Amino acid sequence: MLGITFVFLSLQPNFVAKDFRFALYGDCRNGHETHRKVVAGIMEAHPAFVIQSGDLVARGKQDELWKTYDEIVAPLKQVTQIYPARGNHDVGGTGYEDRITFKTNSGNKLWYSFNKERCHFVTLAIDEYTEYSVSSPQYQWLISDLESVKGKFDHIIVSFHVPPYSIGAHASDLQVRATLCPVFEKYGVDAVLTGHDHNYYRTVRNDVTYIVSGGGGAPLYDQDPKKGAIEGDFWVKANHFVIFDVAGKRILGRVIGLDGKALESFTINSRAKERK
Ligand SMILES: [Fe+2]
Repeated sequence: MLGITFVFLSLQPNFVAKDFRFALYGDCRNGHETHRKVVAGIMEAHPAFVIQSGDLVARGKQDELWKTYDEIVAPLKQVTQIYPARGNHDVGGTGYEDRITFKTNSGNKLWYSFNKERCHFVTLAIDEYTEYSVSSPQYQWLISDLESVKGKFDHIIVSFHVPPYSIGAHASDLQVRATLCPVFEKYGVDAVLTGHDHNYYRTVRNDVTYIVSGGGGAPLYDQDPKKGAIEGDFWVKANHFVIFDVAGKRILGRVIGLDGKALESFTINSRAKERK
């Protein structure tokens, strides 16, 4: 069982003065008991908000699955805001869109952005059901959003479901990589937070940190470094969530397992100086 003591023991040693904290998890689907533990662990860390990387339910068409999701995240929603990205399993019916009730800067219920202090956050809907080619409305909104925040923020963080870099069962989506990664590099995006593969993977490509966080409850997937891992990558097949402490131009990330212990910690530095 997850315990308060374990979580705080693992978080405290690396504690730094921070501007704010946010959390990340995804792919809870039908893993309800694991999902409850992830929610409990995140609540103990007191984030300002939570990003979900998609696949919140197993079948988006089934209203009863959304009701179970609501029941599990209810304690979290009482104390903080959840910003979800839509996963492929969430498609069907209005379950996902019905849960986008918060205020955003621009966009719609599938792609939107919001700000927190010196950070700009963008959420996209990237899966096989949603158009994101260069001529698509979603891609064009992304470019206009990133253009509109040039020079205004220390950090830009993007989240969506299907990863451009992954060594799990789904592996890297090369179409996502070819279409979107040049945009992230050009506009100085600091980190891209994804899910879809049910494990944890972190890699840095062309100065952008890419994270797969899909350990929220769905059956875990094996990982194979032969699927494109490079030196410096970190991966683990484990249920988990990620805590990010934003401190000026630096973000400290910690991956927390269900026993409350940190699986890895890492730093993301602002790419603001690289933005043209
Ligand atoms: Fe998925």
